Amino acid sequence: MKKILLAVTGGIAAYKAIDLTSKLTQTGYEVRVMLTENAQQFVTPLAFQAISRNVVYTNTFLEENPHEIQHVALGDWADAIIIAPATANTIAKLSVGIADDMVTSTLLATETPTFVAPAMNVHMYNNKRTQHNMKILKDDGYHFIEPGSGYLACGYVAKGRMEEPLAIVSIIDDYFKAQQRISTSSFNGKNVLVTAGPTVEVIDPVRFVSNRSSGKMGFAIAQALMNRGANVTLVTGPTQLEDIPGAKMIHVQSAQEMFEAVKDRFEHQDMVVKAAAVSDYTPSEVLEHKLKKQDGDLSVTFKRTVDILKYLGEHKTSQFLVGFAAETKDVDAYAEQKLQKKNADVIISNNVGDQTIGFNSDDNELTMHFKDGQHIYIKKGRKSDLATRILDELETRWQ
Ligand code: PMT
Repeated sequence: MKKILLAVTGGIAAYKAIDLTSKLTQTGYEVRVMLTENAQQFVTPLAFQAISRNVVYTNTFLEENPHEIQHVALGDWADAIIIAPATANTIAKLSVGIADDMVTSTLLATETPTFVAPAMNVHMYNNKRTQHNMKILKDDGYHFIEPGSGYLACGYVAKGRMEEPLAIVSIIDDYFKAQQRISTSSFNGKNVLVTAGPTVEVIDPVRFVSNRSSGKMGFAIAQALMNRGANVTLVTGPTQLEDIPGAKMIHVQSAQEMFEAVKDRFEHQDMVVKAAAVSDYTPSEVLEHKLKKQDGDLSVTFKRTVDILKYLGEHKTSQFLVGFAAETKDVDAYAEQKLQKKNADVIISNNVGDQTIGFNSDDNELTMHFKDGQHIYIKKGRKSDLATRILDELETRWQ
């Protein structure tokens, strides 16, 4: 049975915390509750005691068990902590480390994953200080459960309502499911480097050669790996996508920069996934000044870039290598050739001639080609779902 510590702070939404306690216990969680003094202006400890069937904590100095320090033991006991409702005041105290009551002392003395469900007046919520304080907590790894919009006790109809108890329970359920998946995943704790996006090969100060890769496929794989507890390094060319929180982000421009970023880190990786669309050619020389218009045609000479995947295939020790193949015809045959030529363990092919998948689309359709001759076809779907399927297929085979 998972153990939840619920911290109730002083806002009118405290009445919802009684329902939350009830829903959590009905779902099968063991719940202990602590209340600030202000919370007790709205709800009584007795209500929480009756529903949780546990002692309710309100006073740091009421040490009933001489064998432990209550505000330390309580945080250690819990598998997860929920602060609901979380007032602007408690959020502010937490962001600077104030510990002046049972709730804030316990929260400061714990490393247990903590969920924060704010509830307050919309202006308090939007206030720069509150936003700043919430950002500090988010950056420190607190999980925020965004408040909804609706009728607020102050009369405004706006953002600031504490999320409904049922929705909070489902967030907590999902969290524990994700934790379970991490703990049983073969990727948990493994170092995986993913490449994504295009490379940009400069001709002169204003012109370049690149391709239409959006980075979505590689980012989706990196995110799916994060969800399974891998230590992810994401080497990416220029994209419009946001950095993945928790992943080590390396931003590069050219094929040469991507090569160096990958090569420098290769030794420490357990797996490399090369979803980037790396340019095969780069201008033989980079002009210092903008190329002037002239009469007649223009020829630009290109030279080959390093084939990064091939280099990795030639230098791998124990690393598992996953490459991609972007083809417009004879997809399977070319993918098989790449598997051999680049000494990869898997090549994932996609038909990039189909404009509804592949480059710069939210969808893709893939075939995984394994070294033992096996093929796994993954039907058209969202890149995020496909990333999960790819990892499911790799989960047991890659080691
Ligand atoms: O970024 P999106 O918009 O989401 O699009 C996804 C994608 C179509 C880019 C992706 O699914 C994909 O197919 N990536 C590989 C693109 C590619 O460069 O394929 P390729 O067949 O040219 O190269 C084969 C493999 O060698 C790839 O793993 C590639 O990363 C690697 N390579 C290629 C050239 C080079 N110089 N170095 C390399 O490592």
